[in-house]
Amino acid sequence: MNQEEIKQEIKRLARERNALILAHNYQRDEVQEIADTTGDSLGLSMEAARTDREVIVFCGVHFMAESAAILAPDKIVLLPRADAGCPMADMVTAEGLKDLKAKHPEAVVVTYVNSSAAVKAESDICCTSSNAVNVARSIDADELLLVPDRNLGRYIAKHIDKKCHFWEGYCPTHDRLKVEEVKRALEENPDAVFMAHPECTPEILALAHHICSTSGMYEYARTNPAKNFIVGTEMGILYRLRKENPDKEFILPSVSLICPNMKLTSLEDILHSLQNMSPEITVEPDIRARAKQALDRMLAVPR
Ligand code: 13P
Ligand code: SF4
Repeated sequence: MNQEEIKQEIKRLARERNALILAHNYQRDEVQEIADTTGDSLGLSMEAARTDREVIVFCGVHFMAESAAILAPDKIVLLPRADAGCPMADMVTAEGLKDLKAKHPEAVVVTYVNSSAAVKAESDICCTSSNAVNVARSIDADELLLVPDRNLGRYIAKHIDKKCHFWEGYCPTHDRLKVEEVKRALEENPDAVFMAHPECTPEILALAHHICSTSGMYEYARTNPAKNFIVGTEMGILYRLRKENPDKEFILPSVSLICPNMKLTSLEDILHSLQNMSPEITVEPDIRARAKQALDRMLAVPR
């Protein structure tokens, strides 16, 4: 089958299976093109929770499909590539978090959705890059544990007046963006605005004109009158930014802004997944119930 035939067959099978295809903003262009919905981690989780389709094909990484399975237990959640993980999510375990909690028994645990279901189950509330500060502000406590992203954690801490402890995890893709690379891009494009994801280091965020989630970048690019944007996040975001803003220029400051896990899923993988109804992502009931509490508390906070 050629690419066009594969796309048609995916659409036909998705209809037959009553499946919704979700794709994260970092997925390959052709995957975003065939998806019913693209979005950031929070947007896709909410979409999974509200759909009345029986099957969700999650084109993203493992923790995202797990979140969908937690929020939508009556649906079949497929992750076309079972090996698509998130190195940052793997930097914290439930056991490790329990140890940190024991050291700070008064602290409320705020966990980034980029984490396993078992870690969420040990958390009080979740957050994503688009609601992290609002979530932290909504908590009636003086002390927080911010897990697992040290960069998002320090970004949150700057915006609130609470004692914060950090888990020293990070996203390898965002963490390797260098200050010199951003400065060079700004020098070469003096009229450009720099938008950055909060998974970038504090030194990078200090250079940003705007800090937001991936979906926040679509909104910012659409509404900001600037013509040139330097983009401090994974390169998959360029597909929609360029499509929605044909008169604007989007500049990636570094060739290293690519997440190998987000690029694993191909059209062939999606087709196989729908044909075989696998790999299916499920979460053990006890963990699911406790992780769902943390996600539900997050969803109750205004975006
Ligand atoms: P958002 O989609 O929430 O901005 O997160 C980015 C990310 O790294 C997801 O893996
Ligand atoms: Fe994980 Fe970073 Fe890849 Fe997102 S971009 S999936 S945080 S490694």
